[in-house]
Amino acid sequence: MSKDGFFLVLEGIDGSGTTTIGKMLESELKSKRIKSHYTFEPTYGPIGSVIKNILSRRVVMNTTRKGEVFDQKSLALLFAADRIDHIRNEIEPLLSMGYIIICDRYKYSSYAYQSLFVSEGWIREINTYAIEPDLLIFLDVDVDIGLKRVGARGGVKEIYERRGLLKRVRSNYLNFITKVKFAKIVNANKALDDVYLEVRDILFRRLLKYGYKI
Ligand SMILES: Nc1ncnc2c1ncn2[C@@H]1O[C@H](COP(=O)(O)OP(=O)(O)OP(=O)(O)O)[C@@H](O)[C@H]1O
Ligand SMILES: [Mg+2]
Repeated sequence: MSKDGFFLVLEGIDGSGTTTIGKMLESELKSKRIKSHYTFEPTYGPIGSVIKNILSRRVVMNTTRKGEVFDQKSLALLFAADRIDHIRNEIEPLLSMGYIIICDRYKYSSYAYQSLFVSEGWIREINTYAIEPDLLIFLDVDVDIGLKRVGARGGVKEIYERRGLLKRVRSNYLNFITKVKFAKIVNANKALDDVYLEVRDILFRRLLKYGYKI
């Protein structure tokens, strides 16, 4: 291992539970006095804030394309820029201090969501400098179950929260995740506690292999 910490990424379509499970993991690790840090993308940083405004439709095209969603190529570049900022400012410094990073969404979200609109090859290219995680866990939820969960959460519908789009996002994820050697797929349709136990088990086994005492 070239660094001290451990980099976990949680991915999944909307409502798969990445935020809930990520925070649960951080809280259990902290209760065991293991240095851990939950973080997410898009970030609260300068570029992430712009992305959030675009996703919630507070930023739209002007002039002749009035009201249309911001250009998807620009959005993909913003995600990649936010990610580099996230890595340099937060992820790498904490990894070098030995932290376990739990990252809620990462470059795989870009591969799965932005490739609905622009070529996946280009998305991968603009994410060339996004370091590989040690472990990627994909929370696989049925689109209808995921939508029901985010629907119950309330708030503004984001631009990707549409059934047809999410079906394509899920199939994009499954297409490439099965080829990623450090990835695991967890059935996220189950009750929260069951999903959590499975994720925790995968992570803790891996941490033991990395020499963590848990
Ligand atoms: N396995 C589960 N069973 C039932 N409810 C769940 C489960 N996982 C998460 N939830 C609930 O579903 C809602 C959405 O979960 P959460 O915010 O973690 O999803 P998410 O994957 O982060 O969504 P998004 O990608 O939109 O941020 C929350 O209210 C959460 O408590
Ligand atoms: Mg979330």
